[in-house]
Amino acid sequence: MSDETTERPQGFETRQVHAGQVSDPTTGACATPIYQTTAFSFRDAAHGAALFSLAEMGNIYTRIMNPTQGVFEARVAALEGGVTTAVGLPGALAVASGMAAETCAIMTLAEAGSHIVTGSSLYGGTYNLFRHTLPKMGIEVTFVEDAADLEAWKAAVKPNTKAFYAETIGNPRNDILDISAVADVAHAAGVPLIVDNTVASPFLCRPLEHGADIVVHSATKFIGGHGTSIGGVIVDGGSFDFGDAERFPGFNDPDESYGGLTFWPSLGHGSFILKARLQWLRDTGAAISPFNAFLLLQGLETLSLRMERHVENAKAVVEFLDGHNQVESVNYAGLASSPWAAQAAKYVPAGAGSVPSFVIKGGRDAGERFANALELHEQLANLGDARSLVVHPGSTTHSQLNDEEQRSAGVEPGLVRLSVGIETIGDIIADLEVGFAAAKA
Ligand SMILES: Cc1ncc(COP(=O)(O)O)c(C=O)c1O
Repeated sequence: MSDETTERPQGFETRQVHAGQVSDPTTGACATPIYQTTAFSFRDAAHGAALFSLAEMGNIYTRIMNPTQGVFEARVAALEGGVTTAVGLPGALAVASGMAAETCAIMTLAEAGSHIVTGSSLYGGTYNLFRHTLPKMGIEVTFVEDAADLEAWKAAVKPNTKAFYAETIGNPRNDILDISAVADVAHAAGVPLIVDNTVASPFLCRPLEHGADIVVHSATKFIGGHGTSIGGVIVDGGSFDFGDAERFPGFNDPDESYGGLTFWPSLGHGSFILKARLQWLRDTGAAISPFNAFLLLQGLETLSLRMERHVENAKAVVEFLDGHNQVESVNYAGLASSPWAAQAAKYVPAGAGSVPSFVIKGGRDAGERFANALELHEQLANLGDARSLVVHPGSTTHSQLNDEEQRSAGVEPGLVRLSVGIETIGDIIADLEVGFAAAKA
């Protein structure tokens, strides 16, 4: 987004407050109104027909688009560097949750008989989707055990591969994806790279700038930052050419469910995100409510400020953990000793996030005693909240994975995951000390 008079590109902090919004033209409301309406009135039957045939772009029904969702989408697109679509809609799509965003991104590219390749350092819910649910829908998934092994990505490609997938900062392993290298392998194979940027947030990393084609987020986390609202968002970089009709028939063949519309090339480099909205969202109904879109917008306005504090506090916590005699190892790419330190310097120079994890001496029992004793830290299955959080992934977020799957996702029995909040750092460390004392006892 740029300043209209000078065309000077606006900075991240300006875009997070303003992008995608002007004062409400009817009421003058300065804040984005919550358009809590199911449907939007047509001027007449011809107007309705024009909207349905895409001859005219406009709101029809909140399952598919809504002005409050639209501001949220435009703002996230402006922060991640999403494409502007041929029909003027932003290159982002807000949906009901992060899981819905992932499912939507995959299902917009793949169908029964397709194959995708993914890194295995994944959030547990994503792992389940890929390991169990996608195969039930006829989509085969190959897991690349070591995402740094480019030969393994290459070797996994099949004629029916439709996408590569990975997390910028793996949850909870804290490994950093070599985005440009994996994107190069994906592109050589003729497929787009989808990156889950939840743990980094667009403030710390913008994967589209490094060659990724599509970004997904659990907006539930840092984007909202207040722990009140579930939501997800997909961003289309507009970089991928879907002209391979054999691999991407869904883009190149007329869509019988949309009056014979062909997405590629007629809708150009925003085809992906339009197809996601017009087919997947229309048919599955995983829409975000206008109220949640509004709440997530409130969070976005302070994203950079929160991330700066999250990172500052996370660094202090990691230093404290790293020297602690009850800690076996710490996972945080910002540590000089991390195997991902070089990658962190390249992709997340402002900080490697604030979701470190560590292996506590004494294994699972010690981990549970530690988490139970904390008072400031809430023990729950979330991250990216302004509050400090703690969880034992082995018995919660990754509990549906068997032992081998847990190990491949970076989850050992004694692993404790923190989400370092924005409170006073002395209070956070004092609380962790209480946890360690309890773990020893
Ligand atoms: C990295 C990551 N991606 C996706 C998700 C799923 O998001 P949601 O809970 O909004 O569906 C999560 C949830 O914890 C996550 O941590």
